[in-house]
Amino acid sequence: MNAKIIGTGFQLPVYVADNDYLATLVETSDEWIAERTGIRARHLAREETTTSMAADAARKALAASGLRAEEIGLLIVATISSDTETPSTACRVQAELGLSGALAFDINAACSGFLYAVHIADAFIKSGFCRNALIVGAETLSKLVDWTDRSTCILFGDGAGAAVLQASEKGGVLSQSLGSDGSRWEVLFCQGRPNGNPLCKTAGQPGYMRMDGQAVFKFAVRTVPVCVEDVLQKAGVSGDEVKYFVLHQANSRIIQSVAKRLGQPEDKFPMNLAQCGNTSAASLPILLAQMNEEGKLQKGDKLVLSGFGAGLTWGACLLEW
Ligand code: ACO
Repeated sequence: MNAKIIGTGFQLPVYVADNDYLATLVETSDEWIAERTGIRARHLAREETTTSMAADAARKALAASGLRAEEIGLLIVATISSDTETPSTACRVQAELGLSGALAFDINAACSGFLYAVHIADAFIKSGFCRNALIVGAETLSKLVDWTDRSTCILFGDGAGAAVLQASEKGGVLSQSLGSDGSRWEVLFCQGRPNGNPLCKTAGQPGYMRMDGQAVFKFAVRTVPVCVEDVLQKAGVSGDEVKYFVLHQANSRIIQSVAKRLGQPEDKFPMNLAQCGNTSAASLPILLAQMNEEGKLQKGDKLVLSGFGAGLTWGACLLEW
């Protein structure tokens, strides 16, 4: 049995901030941001929360799957920007949607979170624990970003995407490749809230995202092609048989470089980062749901999903739609 996607959904905040707006906050320009990243605008939460967007995306994916809420046995939310330290966003989404029969928990694997969730859901389905799983990537990165740091605040956006996976004898997840390297955690990190314990001597730092952009860039262009080749080789599928390579939406130059290294045409690498920016764990499921809504995905299509992010973490999976 493999996990197969049978429904998708996404939710973006209403408010759209373009690059010109960011140029009113920090010293930057539309030209610099678009040329270095491909990003022109991003949706930023004003009323929305990680929980509300996760629930909305999950509700849409559930409706698209045709399943009833009680039929979901597993609910995973991948996020680094939960609204509450505890309970998990997944438990709050469970309550909103009435997923009474689901085991619900969050995972934190940054931009690779959705791929980690696919892997866990596939393993739970293979083990017989459940037949149907709902997985969500949801982020409000706007609350983790230092809005005075022009090297990071221009990159990120908010949103959520979701998919329902069901046990299937045919198609679905054909192969996977995941990795992590905690020795490089300082390349990209975000401190938690300052420690208020009067007995603790370590001073609290504001919880903002800090990143060595060039190190992340080099890591991504080296690692993504290797894990994509790995999933192709494991399944005995050639790159030419793949209809789309759906990559984490961090930077168009990273995606173009990966396309070149894989020897595949750029039009097989869909992008939404011009409008959405980098939405971390939400990036892959939002793009997948948008492609599905646009009718780009047909039964039997082979897709590779791949991502990378803080941890460092990375991964890929090969799916048959
Ligand atoms: N506007 C104008 N100038 C800027 C801006 C800005 N927004 N940001 C940085 N600069 C300046 C720098 O200060 C620097 O100036 P200096 O030469 O006077 O010192 C100059 O531009 C070049 O800066 P670099 O950091 O070398 O720029 P680079 O070409 O590397 O682009 C970028 C930076 C876009 C961040 C790139 O490195 C990148 O995309 N890296 C990958 C980041 C990424 O994917 N992160 C997400 C990971 S996913 C996750 O887990 C959340």
